[in-house]
Amino acid sequence: MKVAIYPGSFDPFTYGHKNIIERGVQVFDRVIVAVAHNTSKKTVFSVEERVQILNEVFKDRDDVQVDYFEGLLVEYIKRMGTNIVLRGMRTVSDFEFEMQMALANKTLSSELETVFMVTDSEFSHISSSVIKEVISLNGSASHMVPEIVEKRLREKLLKR
Ligand code: PNS
Repeated sequence: MKVAIYPGSFDPFTYGHKNIIERGVQVFDRVIVAVAHNTSKKTVFSVEERVQILNEVFKDRDDVQVDYFEGLLVEYIKRMGTNIVLRGMRTVSDFEFEMQMALANKTLSSELETVFMVTDSEFSHISSSVIKEVISLNGSASHMVPEIVEKRLREKLLKR
């Protein structure tokens, strides 16, 4: 069984991420969406909240599993018994960071393979920072994030 780990901050989870996951399961038997728990990074949602949102979005899919990890991605991947990292690329400007990360991970674990998918063009403009700005200015982000994410973001960003 081919299992790919799809790691990320998911703060918040967007339709761009969903696009990659849904296409990822066409290529792999299972995709594990792994929320990074980075204690030094200030996030809108806690890791528990992000995991809960993802579980809600994928509750009807048994080929998508939601998890979280702390520390190095390569160590988590080894613990999960796979060697495949799935990442999405929206634009050319994503490429530099993604390549650096893939190469850094490869130096940490030579058997690791990073597989890239290009996000479908209708989602390539979506970014977490744009979404947060739109919501905090009371705009609609319903074309960028699932309903549950928009609702939770409003609760967080407008009730401060
Ligand atoms: O959604 P993001 O913020 O682009 O995801 C980046 C993430 C979480 C996948 C990356 O920062 C990561 O793997 N962090 C875990 C720590 C680690 O392994 N760092 C070394 C590789 S650069």
